[in-house]
Amino acid sequence: MADGSQRAFWSGHFAFVLAAAASAIGLGNLWRFPYLAARYGGGVFIATYLLFSLTLGVTLLVTEIAIGRRSRQSQLTAFRELGYPRWNIVGVLATVVPLFILPYYNVIGGWVMRYFVAYVSLVAGGSGLENPQAFFDSFIAAPLEPFVYMVVFTFVTCAVIVMGVRNGIEKSNMVMMPVLFLMAVGLAAYVACLPGAGEGIRYYLVPDFSSCGSMGKVALGAMGQMFYSLSLAMGIMITYGSYMRRGDSLPRSAVRIVAADTFVAVLSGFMIIPVVVIFAAQSGSGRAAIDAGPGLMFVTLPRVFASLGAAGAWVGLAFFVLVLFAAFTSAISMSEACVAAVCDFFHIGRNASVAAICVWCVWIGSLSAFGYGRWSAFKPFGMPALDFFDSSMNVLTPIVATLICVFVGWAAKPRLVTDEAGMGGRAARLYSFMIRYFAPLLLAAILLSEVCRSLGIGGWSI
Ligand code: PHE
Repeated sequence: MADGSQRAFWSGHFAFVLAAAASAIGLGNLWRFPYLAARYGGGVFIATYLLFSLTLGVTLLVTEIAIGRRSRQSQLTAFRELGYPRWNIVGVLATVVPLFILPYYNVIGGWVMRYFVAYVSLVAGGSGLENPQAFFDSFIAAPLEPFVYMVVFTFVTCAVIVMGVRNGIEKSNMVMMPVLFLMAVGLAAYVACLPGAGEGIRYYLVPDFSSCGSMGKVALGAMGQMFYSLSLAMGIMITYGSYMRRGDSLPRSAVRIVAADTFVAVLSGFMIIPVVVIFAAQSGSGRAAIDAGPGLMFVTLPRVFASLGAAGAWVGLAFFVLVLFAAFTSAISMSEACVAAVCDFFHIGRNASVAAICVWCVWIGSLSAFGYGRWSAFKPFGMPALDFFDSSMNVLTPIVATLICVFVGWAAKPRLVTDEAGMGGRAARLYSFMIRYFAPLLLAAILLSEVCRSLGIGGWSI
């Protein structure tokens, strides 16, 4: 297929890798990875994670990017374009997933924005974060605030998307990503210099087989995390691949994206675990501080920052700038996948498509934004709306990924991808094995564990 003349393209290989890495690096790296590593035996989890991302992660990434570049379509129409109209259902599913995730992701982006504003005011001499738990509880239940912040976050994301692939996404990444890397390295270095940090670093890195639980749980945790962290199964990498030029090496790009994503994930462990361990020792809260789960980012960390004295407000501000940028770049990628799908499917212009997605996000997002306050009575399957959307994603994404593997491995045959990626000989045979057997089996295991978790069946769930 010739490179379509109408279609936008990344300005080069670097711009593509940066955009994909910007999508991949998000809340998953900054908050979820460190907390899973702390829970599952430090080095044991990190080593398992590396193993999975270099095998399963690279395989799935190459696959999605190749489907996009070959079809020059977003996920919604790519399968039809490749000559498999019956498989288009996979594209439909891969579009539905981000359409439902994006609205609630924007709500959490709004929360991060609220904390950013709180730290700006703290640095400027204001107050308001003395009791982080009360601050968080009253903010998410406030009648209007979470909605307003969600709308602002959505508008900023849409403004970047309106400007297009090169002028919007590429340029904003060029600013946000270097700041993000610098802040992460700076914060990790600052934390390493704190008294008592050595103990935390040891806790994070040294494999501890006694506290990690079963290896099955570690493996499932690592796989699920890798999957989420690389933004797989949401059509994002298909859409981004469709803007990639033919001359750029596809396997090399995939390895670089995985490397950048893993680097930031490991780095955020250096940033977060030692401060929490120091805080736990000082306050006597023990493992509970580390195992805080979702509350870690919005409650425990602000407490930790407060315990750092005068520097705490600045550290908190730097941290939330970092998180805000990571959330923006991930939301931008998800919005682009939705906008491109609407453009390709309805043959409408980019601006109209952005407007439609914007209205959709505000509408569906309001369910999650008001879900802890005004509309807390609305509880699908007994959960607050935001948790419901989040759990549905955990089940839907492995389904989409498994279908993509079956499509490439068995229906279209692996050559569809290996030809596009320029892989031959051993590399092609290895890829073929991975996509036909290894990846679907592991994905089925993730799926099973997620279903068991959703249904509350113990043992399998992580
Ligand atoms: N990969 C992002 C992270 O690590 C999350 C994300 C998932 C973003 C899917 C976009 C799409 O946080």
